Amino acid sequence: MKICRTIKEVKKEISRWKAAGETIGLVPTMGWLHEGHLSLIRNAKKGSDKVVVSIFVNPMQFGPGEDYDSYPRDLDRDAKLCKKKGVDLIFAPDVEEMYPEGFCSYVDMTALTGELCGKTRPIHFRGVQTVVNKLFNIVTPDNAYFGEKDAQQLAVIKRMVKDLNMNVKIMPCPIIREEDGLAKSSRNSYLSPEERRLAPIIHKALDMGRDMIKNGERDSGKVIKAISDMILSVGITRIDYVSIVDALSLKPVDRIEKDILCACAVYMGDSARLIDNFSLEI
Ligand code: PAF
Repeated sequence: MKICRTIKEVKKEISRWKAAGETIGLVPTMGWLHEGHLSLIRNAKKGSDKVVVSIFVNPMQFGPGEDYDSYPRDLDRDAKLCKKKGVDLIFAPDVEEMYPEGFCSYVDMTALTGELCGKTRPIHFRGVQTVVNKLFNIVTPDNAYFGEKDAQQLAVIKRMVKDLNMNVKIMPCPIIREEDGLAKSSRNSYLSPEERRLAPIIHKALDMGRDMIKNGERDSGKVIKAISDMILSVGITRIDYVSIVDALSLKPVDRIEKDILCACAVYMGDSARLIDNFSLEI
């Protein structure tokens, strides 16, 4: 397994593979890999001849006061995991390599990013789209693998690829959970033992909301209130949002009549903000 720190090195390796007719799967990550990332890698191994994992904590997608500085980083640990899983190449650039002096071009969109996480993280998706676009241009993957935990990110990337006629297939992969239901996330490492004990309520509350809808409830407000009340009932005090949005437009719906995404973000303690969701076909 190769670890490349520069764009030039990656491009050289990719050209060799392409010349040999091999397909490339990209798993974009910010590192501190967990079982969720490893499942993306497993899918990539199944669907592509060569697998590239990018590891880059992208400053452009963090707003002021967010956890860019404290985001966990350990390239040696991640490299060992990748090697074990049969990854062919890690691309781990530094910030100057990705955003050299004078960098001033961005990818942005005029819809899909105004609700859910985009409300409290207004510059986040512009940063995600820009870095993912750069990674696609550098690695030129046939397939790129993204987790459904970041449902809004997945919707934004799918839209960007469609709108800009990008030559890559987006492969969504299911949420991977701990045994008690908590969605796996690099940010779970911020949780104190007590916060970790409480955190599975997020998934339980969403499951309860899903059951309400399956049993015929069509009033979003009632479902949102029930989910929020259940999360707050264990002593969690700060919910960023619980929302039910149209699965395609990501606009909030009052009545649940078409396919929806129900998503939430919950603050735990000072530093963790956990997200989770479910989608439902109506
Ligand atoms: O999901 C993530 O880890 C990041 O948002 C991504 C897609 C790697 C872009 O930095």
